[in-house]
Amino acid sequence: MTILVTGGAGYIGSHTCVELLQKGCEVVIADNFSNSSRDVPARIARIAGKQPQVCELDVADCQALEQIFAAQHIDAVIHFAGLKAVGESCQIPLRYYRNNLDTTLTLLETMERHGCAKLVFSSSATVYGPKNEIPYVEGMDTSATSPYGWTKVMIEQILRDYCAVNPDFSAVLLRYFNPIGAHESGLLGDDPNGIPNNLMPYIVRVAAGRLPNLTVFGGDYPTRDGTCLRDYLHVVDLAKGHLCALDYAQTHTGAEAFNLGTGDSVSVLELVRSFQRVNGVSVPYVIGGRRDGDLAEFYANPARARDELHWTAEKSVDDMCRDAWHFIQTRLSEA
Ligand code: WQD
Repeated sequence: MTILVTGGAGYIGSHTCVELLQKGCEVVIADNFSNSSRDVPARIARIAGKQPQVCELDVADCQALEQIFAAQHIDAVIHFAGLKAVGESCQIPLRYYRNNLDTTLTLLETMERHGCAKLVFSSSATVYGPKNEIPYVEGMDTSATSPYGWTKVMIEQILRDYCAVNPDFSAVLLRYFNPIGAHESGLLGDDPNGIPNNLMPYIVRVAAGRLPNLTVFGGDYPTRDGTCLRDYLHVVDLAKGHLCALDYAQTHTGAEAFNLGTGDSVSVLELVRSFQRVNGVSVPYVIGGRRDGDLAEFYANPARARDELHWTAEKSVDDMCRDAWHFIQTRLSEA
């Protein structure tokens, strides 16, 4: 099969491309490299032993996207491309709505012209909003507290409406919880530009001496240690979930959502302590004020993905901490 991976040079996309290539798929990466490094496709090839095709483009560029579908038969698409920083989306909402919706609508129109009817969409647990009880279950009402989150809610709705009038179309909506960690080779990982927004890349930079200390956003939450609880899962487990979703799309139609999480929760301080223990490093931190929009706790009920996608996260928090550190060590040794 030939799979188009939009945003395939990104953190989750690149790990998914490795799994696809190792499974024997042909992979076409469409990426504008606005939030990823141009050396990622070569790293993917080095791990997988096979080259992906790379098309540098903006997925919203209809002519450029048309050329990909005109040049070869695309069996399915995994759609990662999109802006994804929650805080930033509150500062530049129009850019988020324009980018995330335009890319998706252009992609769907191009797929339709070429009879491509299988899509795996990179959604997020953020669509559960602030009011649902935990653990989150597919079928719960969706909402959002940021323009980024609203784009995910809207795109899920677009796909549901599209599937309602295109009975042969399959849209698998993967709701990611908190992906962390890196490929065991150390060649791929989460290496955001600038100061990281997310916890694990921040921890890693503090441990590497690139940032002075971690600020824990809030120590007074109603949780076992006062810090927020999240459902962290290994990015390689998450990547494998996309191959299970592609398999599911071969035999199902309609828009179907699945939680990709472990069903467990870990606090900020527990993750810091695990990282220090596993890697024998120090992560100095201070307890600061709460971050706007943060929920005290959320985690997945992963039963539907287990039963219908035949997917379960296998790697431990220790694996996530070890691989995240190995990645940054590898990057630093290359510098
Ligand atoms: C985790 C916990 C922070 C940084 C976000 C998006 C979600 C998804 C994953 C895209 C929180 C705390 C963090 C720091 C801290 N992204 N923290 N100090 O907010 O659960 O989820 O990323 O799909 O949509 O919302 O992840 O890693 O930012 O934060 O104390 O310097 O770590 O307060 O409790 P989050 P996160």
